[in-house]
Amino acid sequence: MPISRLLYTSRSCLVPAELTVEQQASNIAARAAIRNKEVGITGVLVFVEDHFIQLIEGEGPVVEDVFERICCDFDHAQVRLVDLVGVKDRMFDRWHMAELSGSENAGSPLDEELQHIRFLMGVNARVAVEKMHECLLECEANGLLSPA
Ligand SMILES: Cc1cc2nc3c(=O)[nH]c(=O)nc-3n(C[C@H](O)[C@H](O)[C@H](O)COP(=O)(O)O)c2cc1C
Repeated sequence: MPISRLLYTSRSCLVPAELTVEQQASNIAARAAIRNKEVGITGVLVFVEDHFIQLIEGEGPVVEDVFERICCDFDHAQVRLVDLVGVKDRMFDRWHMAELSGSENAGSPLDEELQHIRFLMGVNARVAVEKMHECLLECEANGLLSPA
């Protein structure tokens, strides 16, 4: 079955509590990874400047089903579908939902990369996806990726 790749952005509604918003975003990705594994979804969740950028890929009907659920989630708002394409191969096949999040203290090299990705989303989403993939591989090589 062909693979669908869906890309969207949203504004986070997370508020700091016992957990920072970054920790809450990590938990969302970790829980998502467990569910996604069961239904064959792969992808990445970026959390930057109180916004989410998420890419999900999998069988078309499954992607649609997961996205419908995500859209109804009150942890974010202003969900904006950026791209939905059919692809031959998965690009994020190693991750059921990897997470890329800036540090709580802004200004790290990763923060800058994520801000650049956010900027690219408004200019050329396909290039932004390439950058997300590069950034994941870099983080993985540097041991900066959580196990999601
Ligand atoms: C930014 C964001 C990304 C999410 N990504 C996923 C995901 O990839 N897969 C998933 O199953 N749920 C994801 N969720 C959680 C779903 O929105 C939903 O809360 C969860 O699937 C439980 O749905 P249910 O209460 O209808 O069972 C995400 C939530 C947010 C806020």
